[in-house]
Amino acid sequence: MKCSRCGKEAFTKLKRHNAAFCKDCFELFFERQVEGAIRRKQMFTKNEHVLIGVSGGKDSMALWYYLHKAGYKTTGVHVFLGIGRYSEESRKIVESFALSHGLSLKILNVADFIGHSLPEATKKLKERAPCSLCGSIKRYILNKFAVEQGFTVYATGHNLDDEAATLLGNVLHWHIDYLAHQDPHLPSPHPKMTRKVKPFYTLTEEEIIHYVTLHNIPFIPERCPLSIKAKSLDYKEVLNSLEEKSPGTKHMFLLGFLEKGKQYFAREYTPPLLRECERCGMPTTRDICAFCRILEKLRNQGVKNSAHSRSE
Ligand code: FES
Ligand code: ZN
Repeated sequence: MKCSRCGKEAFTKLKRHNAAFCKDCFELFFERQVEGAIRRKQMFTKNEHVLIGVSGGKDSMALWYYLHKAGYKTTGVHVFLGIGRYSEESRKIVESFALSHGLSLKILNVADFIGHSLPEATKKLKERAPCSLCGSIKRYILNKFAVEQGFTVYATGHNLDDEAATLLGNVLHWHIDYLAHQDPHLPSPHPKMTRKVKPFYTLTEEEIIHYVTLHNIPFIPERCPLSIKAKSLDYKEVLNSLEEKSPGTKHMFLLGFLEKGKQYFAREYTPPLLRECERCGMPTTRDICAFCRILEKLRNQGVKNSAHSRSE
């Protein structure tokens, strides 16, 4: 198999582009996709300091590696969730990567914010799916950190597969409000919320795996053990089987939506008014924000449990 660009021995074939690439040309393809996304969506410039959410997984590690290599100023932020060996390994990976590349990194321990590790919290709040609880907690503490530290942009490694799966979930449930604003660049709706960007939204999981392999970028290969039942994995499976039969389906689905479909939902949508949480002062659509409501439930659960053990 020959590289479609230069004719050298190819290293991979990308069916959705109907092209094969050697290592150098693949790197060029990959990095042009990222730069194209950053420019097209006006995500950030080299004058800005980009905060990157680094979980230790392949996507965020590849993003951190690339942005640093391309000369962007970055700081990594990692949320330590306390999920046993999985969290320990993830933290080690981001710490040693930061050290070996001379990068700045901040670790936020979820227990410092909610008084429990994530597995403890999921046991107490059984009515919430672990990933949804984790998502709400992480969103809050990451945004709070970003705002307090003066970061104006927060980047994540979400890729085409992630975004297409989210889109499928939003369509299946007709989440009109989410469809109206699903975008790889979410502007800040409130002075206490940073804007959020996803520079990998045009790259597939497979392409990111090629990139991390090519550059020996360390990452944790296992999935989070709490995410096993996540709905998004089912959506990915469906999309992968469609992709297998018709390469390019995921790309058409997501990019077609962003270019042509989203506008119809956006027209129908009025963004909710944001005010400040009565307890913590962070933005919310209700009197008390989702995070403070989680804290309250955790506290109430603790009271219930101690009343229960006293009556035994
Ligand atoms: Fe959040 Fe696993 S990383 S539930
Ligand atoms: Zn609050």
